Amino acid sequence: MSETEMGKGACANRREFLLSGGITAAMMMLGTKPMMAEAKVVGYPRKKIGKLSRLKSGRPIDFNYPDEDSENILIKLSKPAGGGVGKNANVVAFNKLCTHMGGTVTDGGYHHSDAVAGPCPFHLSTFDLSRHGMIVAGHATQSLPQIQLEVKGDDIYAVGVMGLIYGRNKNLG
Ligand code: FES
Repeated sequence: MSETEMGKGACANRREFLLSGGITAAMMMLGTKPMMAEAKVVGYPRKKIGKLSRLKSGRPIDFNYPDEDSENILIKLSKPAGGGVGKNANVVAFNKLCTHMGGTVTDGGYHHSDAVAGPCPFHLSTFDLSRHGMIVAGHATQSLPQIQLEVKGDDIYAVGVMGLIYGRNKNLG
């Protein structure tokens, strides 16, 4: 293809682009909305999952949320955390499944001095629970899903999930 032909192709593309922009502008002036996909937000239940007074520092408690198939830990960390609740903002909750291929991260343990969970038994991903479950090392590319918490008096409630739980087909509603 000669440079002139390439130039013509480029002009045609520019013409097509301007034409499609003109059609969109005309539709807006006429009050016709271009087709758009609507964002869908998943509604999660509010569930009581524990009491602040019963939590012991560094000792995770298991609970299921947002359904019986989704296993999580509630834990009081050694330091304040992103999304933490309680007097010292150090009570957090996370889903147990690794975001890489679904290994159970907590099988690798929880290391209280660093507030780190893992390594995942499959490919050794490790997550920082004080920083919204951010990856410290390993194959995973997404943070561990954090369960959003609220406190009322001594009661701790799970109210949502930040991130996608591995293998859960209801993540997107
Ligand atoms: S499944 Fe956890 S690192 Fe691969």
